[in-house]
Amino acid sequence: MDLNKKIISLCKRRGFIFPSSEIYEGIGGVYDFGPLGVELKNNIKKAWREEMLLKHDNIVGLDASILMNPKVWEASGHLSAGFADELLECKRCHKRFKADEIKKDKCPECGGELSKPKKFNLMMKTFIGPVEDKASLTYLRPETCQGIYINFLNVLNSMRLKIPLGIAQIGKSFRNEINPKNFIFRTREFEQMEMQWFCNPQDADKYFDYWKNERLNWYTKLGIKEENLRAIEIPKKDRAHYAQRQVDIEYHFSFGWGEIEGIHNRGDWDLKNHSKYSGKDLSYTQEDGSKYYPYIIETSVGVERSLLAFLNEAYQEVKGGRTTTTKSIKETEVLLKLAKCLAPIKISILPLVKNKPEIIKRAKEVYRILKPNFMCQYDEVASIGKRYRRGDEIGVLFAVTIDFDTLKDKKVTIRDRDTMGQERVKIKDLINILKEKINV
Ligand code: GAP
Repeated sequence: MDLNKKIISLCKRRGFIFPSSEIYEGIGGVYDFGPLGVELKNNIKKAWREEMLLKHDNIVGLDASILMNPKVWEASGHLSAGFADELLECKRCHKRFKADEIKKDKCPECGGELSKPKKFNLMMKTFIGPVEDKASLTYLRPETCQGIYINFLNVLNSMRLKIPLGIAQIGKSFRNEINPKNFIFRTREFEQMEMQWFCNPQDADKYFDYWKNERLNWYTKLGIKEENLRAIEIPKKDRAHYAQRQVDIEYHFSFGWGEIEGIHNRGDWDLKNHSKYSGKDLSYTQEDGSKYYPYIIETSVGVERSLLAFLNEAYQEVKGGRTTTTKSIKETEVLLKLAKCLAPIKISILPLVKNKPEIIKRAKEVYRILKPNFMCQYDEVASIGKRYRRGDEIGVLFAVTIDFDTLKDKKVTIRDRDTMGQERVKIKDLINILKEKINV
């Protein structure tokens, strides 16, 4: 089975990701995040927010609405040909494909003849108010950053900021993708983490390189190997309609290299157009009274795409089992070696046996002590080895085992996911020891 299929299966089986509306036979290109998926997603978002807002000076947050006045999308260029894919339809099986995915001039599914390419706009339409006429037509945002641009002066003035400054935002975006594919890689509803860096035009090149490197480092800090990352300079003809310069950060997925983040120099495209379309001056006034439109360096990453990259990187299979201390050869074991800060469950609490009430009682006490401090799970079903493996498969960092000796010496055993090393510690020291080990 190929890695992507194994990851899809793990995600469904262990509560990370489910196809949306499954009981109604699903809906193309939309997914639901289960209990572990939502933790992983939140941990990724937390890591990104901390990187932006705690590590850097002069970056503030924003949570703009998904629905905006439709003029926003006229000004941004998203209603014109710039935000459209070329679509080809197979005359035999009627499947539709993006033109840039077609290698030969035949349908990749059935070999049938293909239609001429047609432009297809990716905006998702919706209606505001009770009357579905043109006056109430608007769109679900296809990128979060436009909410940042139209609030640029609100943020600048209310926070008394000076350029250079960043505005960071996480939120849902929607695109009517022709061909959603590769699980959560290309979907119709997804989340973006976008940071817009407003700077003096003369500093734009310097900041572009700075942010490109910062963003590459973020992935390696979170466990992605350098050889699985690359930064591709996009030639003019392939750039987004707003970009003067574009570098795509790509990850080496099991299905090939794929973009996980875009770094764009958007120049003054957005602020100038919003000034023109709204009639409000969105330029920046310097201390000497002179004005200019700041240039914008954007870093834009999809939460789901980065999540898929982290899963790809973390997924390991160990043939014959991980333990070398016993002679018995076991089935292939799965280890999800996510970075500590990303692991959805940090600790599992395991009573050695489930038929000794004193051990169960003590294990539940330990669970109650740890639970307010860490994402924990309590697991008493099956052998201890099976429970270790169940935890390894979803990336649980530490297993805390309560055994017969615990009743006498008030100590428990901590087992490390990565080294499988074990150490015995006092229950009263457990929180501090685990905090130090997890460091989050
Ligand atoms: N504001 C700039 C912008 O939206 P983009 O390159 O179109 O740029 C940025 O998108 C990131 O958003 C991508 O690198 C990807 O991670 C994510 N993304 C875009 N379309 C997506 C889709 N259909 N499904 C999942 N993620 C998507």
